[in-house]
Amino acid sequence: MKFFIDSAEIEDIREAKSLGIADGVTTNPSLMAKSGRELKDVVSAISREIDGPVFSEVISGDETGILQEGYQMAKWSDQVVIKIPATLAGIKAAHKLEADGIPTGITLIFSPMQALLAAKAGVSYIIPFVGRLDDISSDGMEMVEQVIAIMDNYPDLTCKVLAASVRTPVHILQSALIGVDIVTAPLSVYKQLAAHPLTDAGIHKFLQDWQKVKK
Ligand code: E4P
Repeated sequence: MKFFIDSAEIEDIREAKSLGIADGVTTNPSLMAKSGRELKDVVSAISREIDGPVFSEVISGDETGILQEGYQMAKWSDQVVIKIPATLAGIKAAHKLEADGIPTGITLIFSPMQALLAAKAGVSYIIPFVGRLDDISSDGMEMVEQVIAIMDNYPDLTCKVLAASVRTPVHILQSALIGVDIVTAPLSVYKQLAAHPLTDAGIHKFLQDWQKVKK
């Protein structure tokens, strides 16, 4: 299972790297806007920092615009994966980019059928969103489970399932249990994986006992 960091902040990437969990990085236009930096600069800097894929999202809605952005971004680094929303125009553009040897990921997937269409088109990654479905009282993980079941039924579909909008340790647990290939989440969510009150209590008790012997 791979862990990708959902961030446009180089400090997050460095900290994730020091934890040994920076298998790749995803960005999106909202994270870019928050960073206040140019997409090209951020993607290039992250590519220098890690060995894995770095996802760069297009903002065009039409096929021609997506292709123009995609070909441009692909020149920034050979680690770049072009992230494209799950529309018909987006899937057509991704099919063309893949035919030209440029890896793509179809993002903003909210149904197993969007995922299947993108997988059939030959994209490298399908990116179902968990948290945003939970936000509207739907079950994000149930949708991802259906995506995994479909992919397991058809081994000729070779794209990776990258679960996104992953916001809690339980999302990661459920993803790991059903065999999701990759999750992407903010660094803060991965840090939560280490937390357990019994670990803290255990350390406290060990130190107390140690101090008694030392006296
Ligand atoms: C992933 O590629 C997306 O950028 C991200 O996971 C979206 O997460 P959010 O729904 O918490 O904004």
